[in-house]
Amino acid sequence: MTKTSVLFVCLGNICRSPVAEGVFRAKLAEYGLEHDFEVDSAGTAAWHSGNPPDSRMIKTAANRGIDISRLRARQVTMDDFHQFDFILAMDYENLNNLQEIDPGIGKALLGLYLEYAQDYQDKEVPDPYYGGDEGFHTVINMVEDAAEGLIKSLQNQPVK
Ligand code: 4NP
Repeated sequence: MTKTSVLFVCLGNICRSPVAEGVFRAKLAEYGLEHDFEVDSAGTAAWHSGNPPDSRMIKTAANRGIDISRLRARQVTMDDFHQFDFILAMDYENLNNLQEIDPGIGKALLGLYLEYAQDYQDKEVPDPYYGGDEGFHTVINMVEDAAEGLIKSLQNQPVK
């Protein structure tokens, strides 16, 4: 079976998208689906390329049993639009930036990750970078909700 590939995207790739990747991987493992997917994350900006996730995000994720400490930030590349089935943005600004650079000839379906959320009505995962601890918890709650929804949606309507 061909794998379904998902790229999570935020601005810096040190807070929201790495934890979206970590939480999605954990959910796949929970459902025994880890071998059916390729998962990665990236930022629209290159400021933090090569860096580990923000220490506050690493700590909040670790408290929920999710280790994202070994992930390293990278910027979205043109190749990503060809490699991934889904490129899922954390907010509208990320999505707009992706749409601006999308060569349009790749296979990637671009969208907002929270479109898959089942409990949250919000469309954007708020950037926690300049805020307090609560923001990091909210990010995890939101990406967990969306991960459940995305897995359900793909099981009902497989892409391959
Ligand atoms: P992220 O958060 O997009 O969720 O990784 C941010 C990380 C860094 C910055 C902004 C947002 N920054 O301005 O450096």
